[in-house]
Amino acid sequence: MQASQAAATPVLAPQSTHGSSQSHRHTKRTAKDYIFGKLIGEGCYSTVFLAKDIHTGKEYAIKVCEKSHIVRHQKVQYIKREKDALNLLFHVPHGFVKLYCTFQDEERLYFVLSYAKNGELLHYINKVGSFELNVARFYAAELLLALEKMHAEGIIHRDLKPENILLDESMHLQIADFGTVKILNPKDIRPTHDKENEDSKEKCDDQSNERSRKISFVGTAQYVSPDLLQNRIDTRASDLWALGCIIYQMISGLPPFRASTEFLTFQKILKMDYEFPEGFPADAKDLVEKLLVLDHSKRLGATDIGNTYESIRTHPFFEGIDWDDVWNQTPPTIC
Ligand code: ADE
Repeated sequence: MQASQAAATPVLAPQSTHGSSQSHRHTKRTAKDYIFGKLIGEGCYSTVFLAKDIHTGKEYAIKVCEKSHIVRHQKVQYIKREKDALNLLFHVPHGFVKLYCTFQDEERLYFVLSYAKNGELLHYINKVGSFELNVARFYAAELLLALEKMHAEGIIHRDLKPENILLDESMHLQIADFGTVKILNPKDIRPTHDKENEDSKEKCDDQSNERSRKISFVGTAQYVSPDLLQNRIDTRASDLWALGCIIYQMISGLPPFRASTEFLTFQKILKMDYEFPEGFPADAKDLVEKLLVLDHSKRLGATDIGNTYESIRTHPFFEGIDWDDVWNQTPPTIC
């Protein structure tokens, strides 16, 4: 791809102690610093290319957005939030694509992201039909750990789905596409101490903040939570609903709520109209049923305090998972 050049803005991501990225994040970059290769992703407002840094030979995924398109569709805030979320997560060692730098020319914005070599989780689900239980358990555990980190930073993804879950060169999971995130105010982030006082405080905060958190529909029909659909309220529990949908899909091969149109999919979600296929393992079924709960405040994990979802971690489905070692393990072979 040939990108015309204008003044590049300074590197915008926060400083980091991660070695290889260091020099990159302190020099101004332009599109001329990269050789753009194949298209690896496409969204409504962006296109992602594999690109090679001409100085280091390192590969990146560069997300390119047409400025005029962003402005015309009033998505400037979304782009800003995406960058803010990626910057907040840069220091988290596992579970997320990393934003190394951003720059722009007259027509386009560029996000230089880590390249997740093995692509989308969806590709693997479709390739093998459904995951063996140990594979589903492993990726569900990595997803839960990533959600814990993201929610601890006050970030709600709002569009979690197997297309937005990528796999790096070691087959570990990385959440991508933060284009629809909500970033909570610091006071709305889960309390980490003083359970009794903080519990009641959070309820009040959540109620008053829910009113100001009414939103228009974001996300993907099959994974959208009923709370988001019905009340247009977004809480961290929207991501826990999506976690339930993704666990179901890894084990059965398809998402729980499927219909020929978005409207019919929404109807099914609101009526909780889904079934488990025969042979769906009992522990997995129990966990999915506890995540796919209409009332977001009653979803497993929704009232957990601190930065871990203990009630989900300790569910029998996750028996045998060593939560401190998941990212160091070799992922089980997908078959
Ligand atoms: N598609 C979209 N973003 C990507 C990334 N960071 N790595 C690989 N493929 C992608």
